[in-house]
Amino acid sequence: MAGWLTRSPGNPGESAVHEPKARARVRVLADWVIVGLLSLLLTGCDQMQEQPRYDTYAPSDVYADGTSARPLPAGTVARGHLRIDTHLYEGMVDGKPATTFPFPITPVDLQRGREQFEIYCAICHGRAGDGNGMVPARGFTRPPSYSEQRLIDAPVGHFFDVITNGYGAMYGHNDRVKVEDRWRIAAYIRALQLSRSMKVTQLSQQERLLLPEGTQ
Ligand code: HEC
Repeated sequence: MAGWLTRSPGNPGESAVHEPKARARVRVLADWVIVGLLSLLLTGCDQMQEQPRYDTYAPSDVYADGTSARPLPAGTVARGHLRIDTHLYEGMVDGKPATTFPFPITPVDLQRGREQFEIYCAICHGRAGDGNGMVPARGFTRPPSYSEQRLIDAPVGHFFDVITNGYGAMYGHNDRVKVEDRWRIAAYIRALQLSRSMKVTQLSQQERLLLPEGTQ
């Protein structure tokens, strides 16, 4: 053990043989001090691990209600969680599905809506919104086409509600698509509906130049 921790670098064993006895003894002592400190540290960690603690809402007799966590005072709202705007958060205005968007839709919003639609919805609804996605092609319930008259007549608040809470066989997306993006997707559904019923003659000369050749 002599000096194995505090030995100076070099040929192993060499220094222990040649150094004077007194110095060697100091080294051995220093080793023991280090070992002692290390073991103190280790037992310290052990104690922290064993410390008593509560899981959230675990039973406890400290408080009268018998639980360790304190309930939130009535009416507490976490920052950023106040949702009194029913138009924005529920798609409802005066108790009816909204017919308008809660914020102005710009071309940038539509672009974002398209992006989100193609990430979250196109797998089932198809990129054109006709219901011919890959998932129904593998046997899942086939979604209706967005260009069905019933859905053309539907208020945008209905789309927002379907995206948020799901509809029939379709699951909701409120846990993965943020609220503004759900509106942007709803706006993009409107764009898809328009694209299906648009006549080429309704486009400007410049817009027609952007179409693939032969589009009727
Ligand atoms: C896993 C497949 C799947 C995904 C993903 C999906 N949908 Fe659907 N969606 C469906 C099916 C199936 C229906 C028909 C449900 C029914 O009638 O039972 C439907 C119905 C709808 C309807 C019509 C509701 C009505 O009134 O008939 C809308 C609008 C819609 N989805 C929008 C979306 C949007 C927007 C997204 C993406 C955020 C999305 N869906 C993602 C499968 C899906």
